[in-house]
Amino acid sequence: MFASAATAPSSAAGFNAEFAKAVADGLTLKRQKTLPPSWLYDEVGSALFEVITVLPEYGVTRAEAALLDRAAGEIIRASGRPAHIVELGSGTGTKTRHILKAAAHHHTVQYAPIDISAAALANCVHALGDVMNLSIEPIAATYLEGIDTAVAARKPGESILLLFLGSTIGNFTRTEAASFLRQLSKRMQPGDYLLLGADLVKSRARLISAYDDPIGVTAAFNLNLLARINRELEGHFDMSLFTHEARYNERYSRIEMHLRSRVDQQVSIEALDLTVPFRKDETIWTESSHKFRAEELPCVGRRSGWACVRQWVDGEWGFAETLFRKSK
Ligand SMILES: C[S@@+](CC[C@H](N)C(=O)[O-])C[C@H]1O[C@@H](n2cnc3c(N)ncnc32)[C@H](O)[C@@H]1O
Repeated sequence: MFASAATAPSSAAGFNAEFAKAVADGLTLKRQKTLPPSWLYDEVGSALFEVITVLPEYGVTRAEAALLDRAAGEIIRASGRPAHIVELGSGTGTKTRHILKAAAHHHTVQYAPIDISAAALANCVHALGDVMNLSIEPIAATYLEGIDTAVAARKPGESILLLFLGSTIGNFTRTEAASFLRQLSKRMQPGDYLLLGADLVKSRARLISAYDDPIGVTAAFNLNLLARINRELEGHFDMSLFTHEARYNERYSRIEMHLRSRVDQQVSIEALDLTVPFRKDETIWTESSHKFRAEELPCVGRRSGWACVRQWVDGEWGFAETLFRKSK
């Protein structure tokens, strides 16, 4: 497995300087405390996310899996039957199996899953190990560092199909998403493709129950971030004094996940030599999940160096798979 030292993902109890910095920066903000969503995915968080994907209320993964199952052959033909597939934030890669099987039907395919979570990557390699004609080269790194590693392994004349599935693009604001897609485009060559999976705008009630399920798995996923601070940075968060909250922000068409302090309290984090004050009802904003209109996705791509080739939409849940070709 390739891994860059700077981004080496934390082991269960290891010290990760980037995590420490993100916590110190985010919890000392004056107006709104924040923690970036990437840090939700340690070994426990990745395992909880896998449970979320099978919850009846969370339709995202099922809708995308059904789309990929149905359209994998068309996607592979439309992207020029690529021999090199690179996936950003692969997680366990469960849904990717459909694409990989279609791609590896006629020739050997090199698959490079990139993920910040070493635990998710290990499961990915294990789960996809039985796909015929597939060579898996996992890359434990952040997105852009991982792409640079994958691109360096490109054989002359070979084109790449990039996958960014699961609506992970929704963790970025719209401005950040456009700039991220631009960064991807800059790293690619003419003849390369990008398949982008994005969750669509739907009713508030449907979205809230998807991100605040009745048995509390998403709450555990969110609270695990505080538990991770306790494990890795000698934090003293009492999880019973925080509650998970999912809000729908209509103006920005996004779900916002927060952790709300139930009381006035002070929490010390020994490895940072920091004590963080919380007022009752003050929150830490841990994740945003932006929702899209199907027709805005080709426009976002066009502004960021990607021409839309085709789009597949699941109308039941509301999910779009958009295939782009790198513009000249
Ligand atoms: C919402 S999950 C999606 C997983 C999978 N693609 C799916 O569709 O089910 C996001 C994945 O991206 C990974 N991730 C989050 N931030 C990352 C970053 N900055 N660089 C690389 N991977 C990241 C997480 O570890 C997680 O596995």
